[in-house]
Amino acid sequence: MIKACIFDLDGVIVDTALYHYQAWKRLANELGFDFTEHQNEQLKGVSRVRSLELILGWGGVTKTQTEQTELATRKNQWYVEMINRMQPSEILPGAKEFLQAAKAAGLKTALGSASKNSSTILERVGLLPFFDAIVDGNHVAASKPDPEVFLKGAEALGTDPSECVVFEDAIAGIQAAKAGNMKVVGIGSPEILTGADLVVPGLHEMTIARLQALDSISTK
Ligand code: G6P
Ligand code: MG
Repeated sequence: MIKACIFDLDGVIVDTALYHYQAWKRLANELGFDFTEHQNEQLKGVSRVRSLELILGWGGVTKTQTEQTELATRKNQWYVEMINRMQPSEILPGAKEFLQAAKAAGLKTALGSASKNSSTILERVGLLPFFDAIVDGNHVAASKPDPEVFLKGAEALGTDPSECVVFEDAIAGIQAAKAGNMKVVGIGSPEILTGADLVVPGLHEMTIARLQALDSISTK
C-alpha cells in the first residue's frame, strides 16, 4: 500500500534551475569562461560541490580545495539573494494542489532534496507546512544516485521504502529512488527519464488515482 510521497524540490515543486544557472554562469564569467544551457542540464540534481567541479572542468580551470570552497560560497550568496525574493507564484503548476490532495488522502509527505537551501525556498513560497519531514543536503553524506536522501525521508516518516513514491526530475534522482526500493514518478520527458515507473510532464498531471495505480507495480 502506498503510504507516503517524497518530493525532490528543484524542478518538481519550484523551478529554481534558472537561478542556479544564473549564479553559476556569473561565477564562470568571472573566471573568464562561459557554459551553455545544455551543459547546465547536467547540473540538475547534482550537489553544489560536484556542480563546481564539473563547471571548472568545462572551463579547464584548476583551483585548490580552499579556492573551491570560496567559489562555492560566492555562488551560493548570489543564489540566496535570488531565492530570498521568490514568491508563491513561482511554485510549479499543480504542485500545491497535489500536495493538498496527498494530505487530504492521508498520505505522509517528505522532501528529499540535494539542496542546502530547501527550507528557505519552501518558506518563501509558503509550502513548508505541507511537509511532515524535510531531508536535504544538510542531512546527507552521499549524493543521488545514492538512495540516502530518500531512505532518510522514509525513515523520518516511519514508512517502509516500498510504500513510498518518489517524485523526481533528474535521472540521478530516479536511480536513487530505485536503488532505495521505492516507486518513482518522473517529472519531465519519458525519453529522458527512462527508469521511472510513470512519467508526467508536471504535478498538474498527477492525481491520487494515478498514484494508487502504482501500487500494483513491484519495487523488486
Ligand atoms: C538540487 C539542484 C542542483 C543543486 C543542488 C544543491 O539538486 O537540482 O542544481 O546544485 O540541489 O543545491 P544548493 O542549494 O545546496 O546549492
Ligand atoms: Mg530536481
